Amino acid sequence: AWTTASIVDEQVALIREQVGTGRVICALSGGVDSAVAAALVQRAVGDQLTCVFVDHGLLRAGERAQVERDFVGATGVRLVTVDAKDRFLAALAGVTDPEKKRKIIGREFIRVFEQAARDLQAEAGEHGEEVEFLVQGTLYPDVVESGGGTGTANIKSHHNVGGLPDDLRFGLVEPLRALFKDEVRRVGLELGLPETIVARQPFPGPGLGIRIIGEVTAERLETLRAADAIVREELTAAGLDREIWQCPVVLLADVRSVGVQGDGRTYGHPIVLRPVSSEDAMTADWTRLPYEVLERISTRVTNEVAEVNRVTLDVTSKPPGTIEWE
Ligand code: XMP
Repeated sequence: AWTTASIVDEQVALIREQVGTGRVICALSGGVDSAVAAALVQRAVGDQLTCVFVDHGLLRAGERAQVERDFVGATGVRLVTVDAKDRFLAALAGVTDPEKKRKIIGREFIRVFEQAARDLQAEAGEHGEEVEFLVQGTLYPDVVESGGGTGTANIKSHHNVGGLPDDLRFGLVEPLRALFKDEVRRVGLELGLPETIVARQPFPGPGLGIRIIGEVTAERLETLRAADAIVREELTAAGLDREIWQCPVVLLADVRSVGVQGDGRTYGHPIVLRPVSSEDAMTADWTRLPYEVLERISTRVTNEVAEVNRVTLDVTSKPPGTIEWE
């Protein structure tokens, strides 16, 4: 039978066969896919794997801690964290075009990851070993959307390692290539990953950088992070995590709206809630959130986040809208 346990056993055996005694590197994004892929490889080859987590400063509240504490706690994986916040902010200064943002974030990510890989390569070389393999959390829908090729030409630009330089050529380990998201989640649970990681909403590689409409700045990130944390808290408290595929919160940083609070006029920014229901993100419907939940979110966000004075709801399906705004 095609059980979750048999998927794990089969993949563990395949990974061992592919990797042998070679060393393996994996970029953790904080997302479900890379976490489950890494956990599978860890199960298969243990300390031959090193995970690299690039903190690009575009993460949601608590995500770095989740990787460093929960993921490492559950798997015992070797983890290297690179703090690259300033570098990403500097590279994004003045940039408003969505495609440019994606390119810059993808490029910087690759550079930081390359450096981490080189450092690891140097360290491994001292022990006479080579880092030969790279783990990727590519899922079946990614394979389909990118035309079925191996690894490269992925829409997810931060995962696109087709452009790595010659001294960093890796064999790709992609243990999730045949799986859909719900199967990946079951595999994660089977491997002992906590609910906080496994039930996590999909989150794009470019992170909050493509959820700020306008230039990305440290202050705007702080505002969006605060609003996003409240939205997630309320959706979880309402027991809606399983019903919702994901709920991007978008900061319209280049739009201002007039409001009133206490005796004073405010001139802040709107946020957009983008709750969607979906099977695989290729198509999506907007989620009919209960009014009481919307009300709580609206009240809390406008009270607790100084720069936000308006909460709006996106009621567009995909197609024609994409899930993300950029
Ligand atoms: P769209 O906006 O294309 O998003 O409807 C579909 C799904 O993909 C996620 N997404 C990304 N994931 N890197 C990623 O890893 C990216 O650059 C990226 N862009 C979009 C999005 O959150 C949704 O789940």
